[in-house]
Amino acid sequence: MDALEGRSVRLRPLTAADRESVFAWYNDPEIVAPYDRFATDTFDEFVRAVEGAPNDPTSLAPRFGIAPRDAGEVVGVVGHYRPHPVLETIDVWYVIGRPEARGHGFGREAVGLLVDHLFRTETVERVGATCDVENVPSVRLLEGLGFRREGTMRSALYHHAGWHDIHLYGLTRAEATARASGRSSA
Ligand SMILES: CC(C)(COP(=O)(O)OP(=O)(O)OC[C@H]1O[C@@H](n2cnc3c(N)ncnc32)[C@H](O)[C@@H]1OP(=O)(O)O)[C@@H](O)C(=O)NCCC(=O)NCCS
Repeated sequence: MDALEGRSVRLRPLTAADRESVFAWYNDPEIVAPYDRFATDTFDEFVRAVEGAPNDPTSLAPRFGIAPRDAGEVVGVVGHYRPHPVLETIDVWYVIGRPEARGHGFGREAVGLLVDHLFRTETVERVGATCDVENVPSVRLLEGLGFRREGTMRSALYHHAGWHDIHLYGLTRAEATARASGRSSA
């Protein structure tokens, strides 16, 4: 799998060294879990999931590490998966695992690169995402990329001993193309 090059970040496959830090983020409730469940897999299961993901469209394993262009280490990860057995849609997810790397635009650029990649390489007409209604950075990231809120699923995710409402977001191929032509003519 080739790297995807952006202005400030590069999305690249995870190396063996990256996997240890990424696995640690998965198991740190302060990193992945404030608005989500967090994984309880063993490291071996995690590695198997990462290695198997390219052959499994439904895999929730990370697909790319997010590396700032001026640094070798990854600061986060992105993934994508087919959330539904019948509907033609792919959802994206994203985590900036190093707290000091948040708020610098890396998350938005990384998700933008991933979305462009999916529209280039897959036949779907819609890319989606879901996020906890209280997850302000995630809502802003998605809306900044042109995702439209399509609805809210009530009490759809259990975490931190409570049921949480989840926003559904979607971006169509036509909307992504219109945004890209706006960017190139600006
Ligand atoms: C969500 C997340 C990936 C955002 O990544 P990031 O690199 O910090 O975000 P960016 O710097 O690209 O900023 C995206 C938008 O969020 C806003 N934002 C970032 N941090 C914020 C914060 N702490 N509070 C409020 N808004 C914030 C930015 O201002 C920007 O919005 P704007 O352009 O309208 O001003 C990151 O906060 C994270 O990893 N959170 C934990 C995991 C998670 O919640 N993942 C998503 C699950 S749905």
